[in-house]
Amino acid sequence: MPTVAVIGAQWGDEGKGKIVDLLAEEAELAVRFQGGANAGHTISIEGKPLVLHLVPSGILHAHVRCLVGPGVVVDPEELLKEIDALRAAGVEADGRLGVSGKAHVIFPYHKAEEAWMEMVRGKDRIGTTGRGIGPAYADRIARIGIRIFDLFDPGRLSEKLGLNLRLKAHVLEKIPDRAEAFDKEKLVEAYLALGRKVRPFLAGVEDELAMAVERDARILLEGAQGTLLDVDHGTYPFVTSSNTTAGGACTGLGLPPVQIHRVLTVVKAYSTRVGEGPFPTEMDEETGERLRRKGHEFGATTGRPRRCGWLDLVALSYAVRVNGASGLAVTKLDVLDEVDEIRVCTGYRIGKNVETAWPADPAALQDVEAEYEIVPGWKAETVGKKSAGDLPEETRRYLDLISERLRVPVQIVSTGPDRGQEVWFRRPW
Ligand code: GDP
Ligand code: IMO
Ligand code: MG
Repeated sequence: MPTVAVIGAQWGDEGKGKIVDLLAEEAELAVRFQGGANAGHTISIEGKPLVLHLVPSGILHAHVRCLVGPGVVVDPEELLKEIDALRAAGVEADGRLGVSGKAHVIFPYHKAEEAWMEMVRGKDRIGTTGRGIGPAYADRIARIGIRIFDLFDPGRLSEKLGLNLRLKAHVLEKIPDRAEAFDKEKLVEAYLALGRKVRPFLAGVEDELAMAVERDARILLEGAQGTLLDVDHGTYPFVTSSNTTAGGACTGLGLPPVQIHRVLTVVKAYSTRVGEGPFPTEMDEETGERLRRKGHEFGATTGRPRRCGWLDLVALSYAVRVNGASGLAVTKLDVLDEVDEIRVCTGYRIGKNVETAWPADPAALQDVEAEYEIVPGWKAETVGKKSAGDLPEETRRYLDLISERLRVPVQIVSTGPDRGQEVWFRRPW
């Protein structure tokens, strides 16, 4: 039975949470492999939204085991808050959620370093989520990171925190009003206490996965962010600090590449982006504002308004290639219901030339102008539609255009935020 990776094809917020929740009904495991609480994955049931940041979006299905792999950066406070919030909503994570001891821990100094960097960058800021993600991943690569395992050993934690605070002193001393948060003894105490609370969730994620593969279990790999935010393959430097693409699941989990059998890329029917960075198909303010309002395009983590743009087939072709997409989940189709003419970007104009391929150097995106094909809107309500036959002719044509140009079949179409508001074309298993 195949392992399916669910990967955002754009700049995040494509609706991965909803899709993972849907597929989880038939899965045994749902696994996060990268990112951290910068993610905000929404599942909506009967109009009630639930936003998950670290806990995999399979958690609402009582039979699903949810794992957080070594490639994720974990803010233990956030994790525990999320577990409590789930409990308050009647969802018990005990015994169903497993967190790798190898996952790196986010400390208050990561958030301070990030705020400092963004401030120094000024107008060149990235517009991060402020969750400490970049600095935590930087420490991991610099081999000074502190992992969940370290939270169980006072001596080890104290030694590692001491080294970090010495190495970071030059930045941390510039943030005097937050000095409390950088007191080693206080940090040791606080994080040992958090470690005690996280310990019951400790899991041998790689071993669990290997055993699940062995017994042919259905495994869902839940990507966070999106392809164009991948640290290597995205719009660098306006990216996140992890590999958000399908390959990230292998490195983030110790899962062999041949064990990922399907890659379902989630494509929003238009584009959005939060934070800074190039966005060739960004809409004019008025049209963008209309979609933002209809699609509730405000960050699930930070509440920031999302920038809105048209569908970009150049970027999506690239995303399909980088991920080896086997299927598409097209979301938020209903948000386009009232649009007269829908624009679809088929090329980037640079001077007299029109390029149809993603540029080798993403910095070039700052200077491109999107070339559009215009397709007629359907001007009819598609909210909550459940079968292909119920979709207007123009809607089906829009979906055909996407799958034909990308040469990947559309397997699911989402027609509303709620569970049950979707059209299945083919199960990805
Ligand atoms: P994720 O980060 O990829 O999981 O996506 P987010 O949860 O950040 O953002 C997607 C938003 O769109 C959430 O508010 C979802 O409830 C909502 N959503 C998902 N699918 C649909 C859809 O088909 N139609 C509409 N109108 N909203 C959707
Ligand atoms: P989900 O999983 C949309 C963006 C930030 C910023 C850049 C770097 O919900 O799709 P970071 O805090 O990661 O260092 O910020 O990446 N970003 C996201 N945008 N959805 C997300 O997650 C995002 N996670 C980070 O806005 O531009
Ligand atoms: Mg999101």
